[in-house]
Amino acid sequence: MTDVVPPTALSEIKLRLLCQDDIDSVKVLCGDWFPIEYPDSWYHDITSNKKFFSLAATFKGGIVGMIVAEIKGRTKVHKEDGDILASSFPVDTQVAYILSLGVVKEFRKHGIGSLLLDSLKEHISTTAQDHCKAIYLHVLTTNLTAIHFYENRDFKQHHYLPYYYSIRGVLKDGFTYVLYINEDLPASTESPAQLPAVVQHLVQERHRVQQNHVKDRSLSVLPARHLNLSVADFYTKPVSALYNVQAMYNICT
Ligand SMILES: CC(C)(COP(=O)(O)OP(=O)(O)OC[C@H]1O[C@@H](n2cnc3c(N)ncnc32)[C@H](O)[C@@H]1OP(=O)(O)O)[C@@H](O)C(=O)NCCC(=O)NCCS
Repeated sequence: MTDVVPPTALSEIKLRLLCQDDIDSVKVLCGDWFPIEYPDSWYHDITSNKKFFSLAATFKGGIVGMIVAEIKGRTKVHKEDGDILASSFPVDTQVAYILSLGVVKEFRKHGIGSLLLDSLKEHISTTAQDHCKAIYLHVLTTNLTAIHFYENRDFKQHHYLPYYYSIRGVLKDGFTYVLYINEDLPASTESPAQLPAVVQHLVQERHRVQQNHVKDRSLSVLPARHLNLSVADFYTKPVSALYNVQAMYNICT
């Protein structure tokens, strides 16, 4: 791939789905981007199994970036992330898992990663519509570039996963990051009776402020602040995410 990337590269980027002919190039790219070795079956799956949304960004015909994601039912989420959505969400609620997102080094910081992420969101809104409530992914705790990328796009750290990755025989820690989308809540999750005490308090507080149009919100969310939750998060997160507050509370106290 070219060393000199024009500042206008983004305007020349084309998007297309990956296909089996891409396997060799994708293997080389993933080898550059990720310290993890994927089995051949993974490359075969992401380029041929329709359950994956595998999108390539190309520049003058060559792949310079890709995103691979799977939209799946919330019951298919692995155990370690099983609490991303509260169990009170209907069983047909969906989530999107990003398996892979990468951009060729010389093409980074040109907006291609954002374009790929936005394309995934667009795909979700046209296929899963508002049934999909969260986009999530795993990242090495040491991958600060990716962590900043996701945090700057409103993903929130959800879990710390000690020894989650095995990289050339060495165990490394990971994080789960989540972006909640389509945040209309099923009425049942807003029912204080079903919620743990701390969450009940937060939900009631949120209702009180919303209903009374309280101006100085900072005062009313002291409990949330104490739990390291921003005021904005407190008002925009679904109740399912407030369960994390309960978890934090247990750790902090
Ligand atoms: C994470 C990754 C995919 C981001 O891709 P990218 O193409 O650099 O992403 P973008 O260009 O959209 O955004 C990166 C930054 O460049 C900035 N940027 C975009 N266009 C720019 C431009 N023309 N000039 C200057 N900066 C620009 C963005 O604003 C963004 O900064 P911000 O997060 O502070 O807003 C990329 O770093 C990568 O491939 N890393 C290795 C693989 C990896 O770790 N993947 C994630 C695994 S979970």
